[in-house]
Amino acid sequence: MDKHKVKRQRLDRICEGIRPPIQNGPQHPRPLVALLDGRDCTVEMPVLKDVATVAFCDAQSTQEIHEKVLNEAVGALMYHTITLSRDDLDKFKGLRIIVRIGSGYDNVDIKAAAELGIAVCNVPASSVEETADTALCLILNLSARWRGGAARIRGETLGIIGLGRAGQAVALRAKVFGFSVIFYDPYLPDGVERSLGLQRMPTLQDLLMHSDCVSLHCSLNEHNHHLINDFTIKQMRQGAFLVNTARGGLVDEKALAQALKEGRIRGAALDVHETEPFSFSQGVLKDAPNLICTPHSAWYSEQASVEAREEAAREVRRAITGRIPDSLKNCVNKEYLMATPQWPGMDPSSVHSELNGAAAYRFPAGLVGVTAGRAIWSRGNSGGNCFGGPANGSRNRSGVPPPSHPIAGPTF
Ligand SMILES: NC(=O)c1ccc[n+]([C@@H]2O[C@H](COP(=O)([O-])OP(=O)(O)OC[C@H]3O[C@@H](n4cnc5c(N)ncnc54)[C@H](O)[C@@H]3O)[C@@H](O)[C@H]2O)c1
Repeated sequence: MDKHKVKRQRLDRICEGIRPPIQNGPQHPRPLVALLDGRDCTVEMPVLKDVATVAFCDAQSTQEIHEKVLNEAVGALMYHTITLSRDDLDKFKGLRIIVRIGSGYDNVDIKAAAELGIAVCNVPASSVEETADTALCLILNLSARWRGGAARIRGETLGIIGLGRAGQAVALRAKVFGFSVIFYDPYLPDGVERSLGLQRMPTLQDLLMHSDCVSLHCSLNEHNHHLINDFTIKQMRQGAFLVNTARGGLVDEKALAQALKEGRIRGAALDVHETEPFSFSQGVLKDAPNLICTPHSAWYSEQASVEAREEAAREVRRAITGRIPDSLKNCVNKEYLMATPQWPGMDPSSVHSELNGAAAYRFPAGLVGVTAGRAIWSRGNSGGNCFGGPANGSRNRSGVPPPSHPIAGPTF
């Protein structure tokens, strides 16, 4: 037997100890894939219907997820309106792959997922342009409203924190408008500043001291919660602007409200907030002057939304028909998965629908809703196998897909 096959068999035996293998046989004719915090699977279904059964949970926490999904789901799709901590992840008994429909994955404990043998992926590309366009709109808007009269933009310094995909796209746009662009991103290799013709700041303090406007584009992680706080605001130029289209947790809103009231920050534009959905009438920012707020919609265009959902479904498909993590395109916890000695590989023969006999499919065709243990409604054939509903059956009994607009729907 070849060396790799022996190694794989050994790994599979080890991994049986941490997560059970995906079961075969009549009870598991197709792997179950669940959309956790949404209910419209119309984009995902065409991509997945021949290899998976798709369920929607429309849940805001794992307490609202049906037991069937917790016990049997092999794949999960999710937006940003549900959080998966270690305890939440532990409730899923057969999960192998989670795909965030969007770029940020700060709502999933990716290390814990890796330790449980679950790969986590994101969709980083679909809304780079939308996010950058929105950020630049907000930057220009602040300047036009609160820089006094018709002040010139050319020559102003824009400081970008986090020069990833969105940060770079903002930098390119801002240069065209005549901004002098500087950035701070300690995780990027030397030379990026030369490739893009930008000035790199060695420390956050340097960036804050030199910027007329600071725009946040870093991912939120365990090291940068409240990166902008009372202390760092005092390092900013008197009367500078602040824009945040990245994550609400990066900014201490109480400190920002105070700085706006005192005029230390002249104006701020926030697409993301510490608590979402954001309400103007509540919270620490309710009396803050010179503030523009948008409802976590920077990512949104119809095209970006469809692209993200298709790509997320394709990633799940790759997991089902290929190997985890080798076949995945955007696995964000690969490093942790590989470091876990017992990381489980998904054996395609145990889950592929053709090998499992799709005819023995145990959920009815069409769209069926379930409450704790029983079906509550069903609708005509949706062109595939899809069932769903929250565990408590409290919402979504109509079967009508939700509006796709981000204000009412999921966030990135
Ligand atoms: N508002 C929206 O609708 C919307 C849309 C897209 C993305 N986002 C958010 O914006 C973030 C950035 O998106 P992206 O696609 O550019 O991600 P990305 O992963 O391509 O880039 C993130 C960058 O941040 C850097 N970074 C991390 N911690 C940092 C720190 N403490 N200081 C400076 N830099 C740091 C990383 O090195 C990386 O280069 C995402 O994580 C997501 O949370 C929001």
